[in-house]
Amino acid sequence: MFKRFRDRRVSPEIRMQNRETFLETKDFIYPVFLLEGKEREEAIPSMPGVSRRSLDRLLKYLEWPVKLGLRSILVFAIPDHKGVEQAYRSDGLMQRSLPDIKSHFPQLEVITDVCICSFTENGQCHMGDNDQTIEILAKIALSYLQSGADIVAPSDMMDGRVWAIHRLLTHSGIKQPQIISYAAKYASSFYGPFRDAADCAPKTGDRKSYQMDPANSNEAMEEIQADLEEGATSIIIKPALSYLDIIFRASKRFDCPIIAYSVSGEYAALRYLVDQGMASSDIIEETLLSTKRAGANRIITYFTPLILEKKNGNQLV
Ligand code: PBG
Repeated sequence: MFKRFRDRRVSPEIRMQNRETFLETKDFIYPVFLLEGKEREEAIPSMPGVSRRSLDRLLKYLEWPVKLGLRSILVFAIPDHKGVEQAYRSDGLMQRSLPDIKSHFPQLEVITDVCICSFTENGQCHMGDNDQTIEILAKIALSYLQSGADIVAPSDMMDGRVWAIHRLLTHSGIKQPQIISYAAKYASSFYGPFRDAADCAPKTGDRKSYQMDPANSNEAMEEIQADLEEGATSIIIKPALSYLDIIFRASKRFDCPIIAYSVSGEYAALRYLVDQGMASSDIIEETLLSTKRAGANRIITYFTPLILEKKNGNQLV
C-alpha cells in the first residue's frame, strides 16, 4: 500500500481545494516613483513596464490598479535638484503631492519611503555621521506624516533611526505613529535597476558599511528585534527571493506583520525571462507564492498591477 498524492492534483478545482497558500489582493503593495513637474512620464530602461511620473500622470495611471483593488502604495520621491533639505521642506516634492494623492484615492494606504539617497549628491543614505543622519530622517518622517502620509518606511539602515523617528513623532503629537521599518535590508546587487529609477546610485563606494551582509541570518533577527523595540509597527525584509530563509525565520519568531520586498532586480530578471519567451508568466505567481509560503504577510512588488489584473480574470503580461 502506498499513499496517493495525485488524487489531490486531478483538476484545477481539486488542486484549489488542497492549496495551502493564497495570493490575495490585499497582500500587495505597489512601489511608485514620483517626479517633479507636469506631464512627465519616463520609462526606466532597466525595468520594462515601470515608469517614473509627475503627480498628474501618476494619479491618472493609478486609477487602473486602484480599480482592480489596489490597497497600498509605497511612494519614492525623486527631486530634480539634490540637497537633503529638499526631503523635509514643507513644500518639498513629496509634501506637495501627498494631499492630492490622498484626496484622489481616500481609501488607498500611502506609505512613504524615508531615505536621503535620492537627495544626497553622493547617492549615499547618510550624511557621514549616523547620529546626525537619524535626526534628519526623523524630520523627514514627521513632515511626510504631517503632509498626509499614512505610514513612514525608513529604508536607510542607520542605527537608531526608528528610535529617533518614533521619539520625534510622539513628541510632535502624532498619535500611534505607523512605522514600517526596513529592518533586515541586505547589501544586495538586486537593487541595481532601482538605482536608475530613483537616481540614487552611490557615486563612489557601496552601501556595505550600513546594509546587511548577505551571509548573516542571526544578525537579521537582532536587527528586527531592535526595530520593534524602538517602535516599528511592521518590518520589511529585502530582497525577497534570496532571503526566504530570513522571512521564514522572522515569521516564526516575531508576531508583527512581515513584509517582503521583491526588489527591482528580481522584477527585471523575471521580466526578462518572460519577455524573452524563456519562461511562462506563471513564474511571477510562483515566486510571489514562495514568498508568502515562507511567511510574508504582504509583498511589495512592481508586478502588483499585473497580479491584480490576473486576479480580475484578465491575461497576465
Ligand atoms: C534606498 C532604497 C533602495 C531600495 C529601496 N530604497 C536602494 C538601495 O538601498 O540601494 C531598493 C528597492 C529596489 O531595488 O526595488 N534607500
